[in-house]
Amino acid sequence: MIVVREHLKCQAAEAAVAYVEPGMVLGVGAGSTTEQFVRVLAASDRRPRAAVAASERSRVLLESLGISVVGLTGEIVPLALYVDGADEVDPRLRLIKGAGGALTREKVIATASRRFVCIVDESKLVPTLGAFPLPLEVVPFAVHLVEHELRSRGGAPLLRVGYETDNGNRILDVTGLDVSDPEQVERDLAGIPGVVECGIFARRRADVVVIGTEAGPRRLMPQRA
Ligand code: A5P
Repeated sequence: MIVVREHLKCQAAEAAVAYVEPGMVLGVGAGSTTEQFVRVLAASDRRPRAAVAASERSRVLLESLGISVVGLTGEIVPLALYVDGADEVDPRLRLIKGAGGALTREKVIATASRRFVCIVDESKLVPTLGAFPLPLEVVPFAVHLVEHELRSRGGAPLLRVGYETDNGNRILDVTGLDVSDPEQVERDLAGIPGVVECGIFARRRADVVVIGTEAGPRRLMPQRA
């Protein structure tokens, strides 16, 4: 059954505009929820001075709506704010991202930002990460080595055929890996030669998750210890 969740994505996108200070430079991710956010932001009275875009597609959209796109230069790092979607969100605000293939730039901008506001519809909330195939960006030369390494760790990698990232690399979508310790798996995968980045965002998780729900927007914040 196809469930249309566009109104919930839009609800999260609208609620996230409140985090934007007019005239600021912010980071903007990729994906359909982020694109809703860009459209709402461009039409609001909180328009930014400029944005750093995680994908070429986001860059084109931002510029088409009159928002300048700049690189991640020394003058603007750290950014005050990064807004992006996710494919899975666990209760500790750790994420799986990268269905759109922009995970490397997304992680770079998220890490370069003081606050990461993640925007999702309620279908993205999970008790534990790992049902969604985990995207890995891999340099083309290393694809077969990385596939071999992943299989030896119990994973089943699937190459996105005919797809190239904005960085000229390939994406492997991996199922079957045990990601019950996301921080450790994130570190381990980064250690395979040829892996540029993986879609687990545990070391740099979200600071706030804004969720579109049938009962209205709600926010998920880190639990206090
Ligand atoms: C892009 O590479 C992804 O990380 C997206 O942020 C993620 O896949 C969520 O996308 P949607 O908002 O389209 O569900």
